[in-house]
Amino acid sequence: MIQTVRSAARLEGTVTLPGDKSISQRAILLNSIASGSAHVSNLCHGDDRASILRCMGGLGVEITAHSNCTETGAEECFLVEGRGPDGLIEPGTVLDAGNSGTTARLVTGLLAAQPFFITGDNSLRSRPMDRIVNPLTEMGTHILGRDGNSYAPLAISGGGLSGIAFDQPVASAQVKSSVIIAGIHADGETTVVQPAESRDHTERMLHAMGADITVDGLRVSVRRSTLSAMDVAVPGDISGAAFWLVAACIHPDARVTIRNVGINPTRSGVLDALRAMGANIWIENVREVGDEPVADIVAESSQLTGIEISGEAIPRSIDELPVLALAASVASGTTTISDAAELRVKESDRISATVAGLSGLGADIEERPDGMTIRGVDGLAGARCDSAGDHRIAMTMAVAGLTAAGETTLVGAEAADVSYPGFWRTLNSLTPG
Ligand code: S3P
Repeated sequence: MIQTVRSAARLEGTVTLPGDKSISQRAILLNSIASGSAHVSNLCHGDDRASILRCMGGLGVEITAHSNCTETGAEECFLVEGRGPDGLIEPGTVLDAGNSGTTARLVTGLLAAQPFFITGDNSLRSRPMDRIVNPLTEMGTHILGRDGNSYAPLAISGGGLSGIAFDQPVASAQVKSSVIIAGIHADGETTVVQPAESRDHTERMLHAMGADITVDGLRVSVRRSTLSAMDVAVPGDISGAAFWLVAACIHPDARVTIRNVGINPTRSGVLDALRAMGANIWIENVREVGDEPVADIVAESSQLTGIEISGEAIPRSIDELPVLALAASVASGTTTISDAAELRVKESDRISATVAGLSGLGADIEERPDGMTIRGVDGLAGARCDSAGDHRIAMTMAVAGLTAAGETTLVGAEAADVSYPGFWRTLNSLTPG
């Protein structure tokens, strides 16, 4: 699909986000092996939601959508009938995680003790799986994959699991969660030591569902546990909010309010980065929803200045780095993004795709092995660009098009549907006339 985005005279309005993708996936997956049933409301939208529902359905879990949910007051919610710790059935076919690395890695940890097959789309089949295959094999499961067990499709024959102490080489919540979730089915203690803190939704949810889990700084330990089903009201996705925050900040005449955004500190690096750049951003109405902090956020036109983004800030903003690179492209001064080689193994090589997309619109942006160097320019100019089949690149380029002079033509715009099918509708609602 090709979308044309024109430079907007003004950006104004209130945005309601889809549910957080990471929390949604965990709410479905962990309630599937809990005792009892649970309602999950404000579930994420898009292809990644379909992927987790398809995989858990394939394992025999009953998940039904309800409208006007009396239990939660939500317009739509999903009832997950937990099957208990040993209730997942061996699927008769290969599980398909689609484009979702989180689904593939968390489901593999969840099922590590039993036999199954899992695969995904072209992008997922080119993303490294040895990062979960190695620790799960050390725990006692048997996994075969393509190319030295590095890539999906994966064939898992299961096995009795024992706890391990795993020193994570790179900060990754998907890998951490895969090992921790395997650990609730393992003998003894399973410990993951993180090099820097990655998103902690799994730890929070497991704790709230009654698991034997302890977190001590960067060290997470878990023992065999039975989970109790838990209703989850999923907060709005800060990774979706990031596009509108940057859009407002880089537009000369903008004010955007975003309601019900999850602001978990392991996810809020985008807010810290934009504020350090001098953004006019206000966080209002901070509250706790379940185990997660939530707020409303207001952003306005800003004069941004370049900054350095590196180290522990990277896992806290990993999915927002492409759109932060856009903000840096029109900031004054230089921005460097370092320690972010992980971007190369996301749904696309997001360093190359960001540099290709933004430089095509006139940004002064240079690719480095572990990041980018961006020297701010006075403004971007609309051009033809490509999503590289990656939802976050598609939405970054669309936001760039809102402020670039003239017209931007985005090829592969349908990629946004992976995490944010309502994205184009919201974009149009913010740019009336
Ligand atoms: C996710 C973790 C991140 C992120 C991805 C979702 C999760 O990946 O990029 O979009 O839900 O755990 P890594 O943890 O592998 O960096």
